Amino acid sequence: MANTILVGAQWGDEGKGKIIDFLTDHAQIVVRSQGGNNAGHTVIVGGTKYVLHLIPSGILRPGTLCVIGNGVVLDPVAVAGEIEGLRSKGIAVTPENLMISDAAHLVLPYHRQLDEARELAKGSGKIGTTKRGIGPAYGDKIARVGLRMADLMHPDVFAEKLAARVAENNAVLAGYGLPALDAAAMLKDLLAAAEALRPFVANTVVYLHKAVSEKKEILFEGAQGTFLDIDHGTYPYVTSSNTTAGGACTGSGVPPNRIDRVLGVIKAYTTRVGEGPFPTEDGPLSDMLHGMGREYGSTTGRARRCGWFDAVAVRYAGMINGIDDLAVTNLDGLDSLDSIKVCTHYRLNGALLETPPMDYTQLAACEPVYTELPGWKTPTETIRRWEELPANARDYLTKITEWSGAKLKIASVGPNREQTILL
Ligand code: GDP
Ligand code: IMO
Ligand code: MG
Repeated sequence: MANTILVGAQWGDEGKGKIIDFLTDHAQIVVRSQGGNNAGHTVIVGGTKYVLHLIPSGILRPGTLCVIGNGVVLDPVAVAGEIEGLRSKGIAVTPENLMISDAAHLVLPYHRQLDEARELAKGSGKIGTTKRGIGPAYGDKIARVGLRMADLMHPDVFAEKLAARVAENNAVLAGYGLPALDAAAMLKDLLAAAEALRPFVANTVVYLHKAVSEKKEILFEGAQGTFLDIDHGTYPYVTSSNTTAGGACTGSGVPPNRIDRVLGVIKAYTTRVGEGPFPTEDGPLSDMLHGMGREYGSTTGRARRCGWFDAVAVRYAGMINGIDDLAVTNLDGLDSLDSIKVCTHYRLNGALLETPPMDYTQLAACEPVYTELPGWKTPTETIRRWEELPANARDYLTKITEWSGAKLKIASVGPNREQTILL
C-alpha cells in the first residue's frame, strides 16, 4: 500500500488530472490539499471531457473517496455548482464519495473583486491571476481574518461575521474606486450553497488518520505546479499556496512519515499561463502547439505560453518535492518535429548554472543552454507499450528524465485514460 503525493513539477497544467484518473485504478482515496478553483484538471473518460476545479479528479471512478482538505480555499457557490455540473453528466456525488474539510477557508465575493482590482492596479506588472480570489482568500487566512467552512455551517453567527468582513473589505474596495458590496445579497447565495454542502462537511483529518491506519491507499492530488509555489516558485509570479509536496501534509493533516512516495508530473515540453519569467519560452513552438488546437487554459481559456523542456527547472522540482518517479505527458505533441531542444543548464553573466536562481529578475536574465535531440516523426497516440515507441522517442524520454534526476514511470501519448504507457 503506497500513499503517494502527486505534484506538478513545472508551472501547472502538466496533465495531473489525466494521471490521477489513471492512478485511481488503484488508489482508494484522493485528497486535494491546496489551491482553489484556479485549478483546472482535465480528464477524458469514455469520450466525455470533464474539467475539475475543486473536486478531486478521483470523483470519476466509482468507489473512490474524494477529500477536499483543510488547505484548500473554496468558493462555496462554485463548489456547489461543480457538484451539480457533475451530476448533470451522470456522475454520482454523495457524502459516500466526497468529503469537505470544516477547516477549509472560504473564497468570498470580495476576494474575487480584490483579486481583479489589484491586478488592474498593477498594470503591466500584473501577475495574470485566474481572478478567482485565491490570493486575497489565502491572505485573509494568514492574517487570521478568514472565514471557514465551519463558520458557514452556523448561519446565524456566519451572518454577523460576514457583515463585519464585508464592511472592512468595502473600505478597501473604495480605495480602488469600487462600489460597496451588499452583505445581505451575498448571504442569500452563500446560505443556499451552505445547505447544499452541509452533508459533505466533516473533520477530514480524523477520517484520513483512520484511513491511514486501515492501510487504505491515498493519492494526494497536487494543484498548480512547483514554480507557482508561494515559497519556491518565481515569486511574485506565483499562486498563494504551497503547491509542492510539503503542502500535501499541512493541507490534509496527514503527517510526512505516512507518505511513501512522490510522483512528479511533467509535460514533454513546458507551458506557463500568466506572467513571469520562463527561460525556455519559444514562439514557433507555441504557434505549432496552438495550431494543433492544444495548450489553451482549462480554467480561463487563455493561450498558454509554450517552450522547450527545461531540465534545470525539473531537477530543482525534484529536490524540493523529493520526486521518486516521473510521469511525462503530451509526448505526442512533439511527434512532428525533426529535432527537439532540451535545456540542460542556464547561463547567467557568463556562469553556467545547474539550478534556477530564486530572484525572478535573475531568472528572467538566464539564457537556456540547449542540447538538441533527434525527433521521431511518427504518431505515438495509438502506442500502448514502451517497446513499441520509436527509438528516438524512448531516447528522448530516457534523457529528459535522467537529466531531471528521477525515474520514468509513466508516459502519456494522449488525453484519454487508455493512452498511457506504464513502465
Ligand atoms: P492539469 O491542470 O495538470 O490537470 O492539466 P490540464 O488539464 O490543465 O492540462 C493538460 C491538458 O493536456 C489537458 O487538455 C489534457 O486533456 C491534456 N493531456 C494530458 N495528457 C496528455 C497527453 O499525453 N497527450 C495529449 N495530447 N493531451 C494530454
Ligand atoms: P492547475 O492545477 C496553471 C497561475 C495563474 C497565474 C498565477 C496566480 O490546473 O495546474 P492565481 O489565480 O492562483 O492567483 O494565479 O498562477 N495558475 C495556474 N497556472 N495551472 C493552474 O492550475 C494554475 N492556477 C493558477 O495563471 O499565473
Ligand atoms: Mg490545469
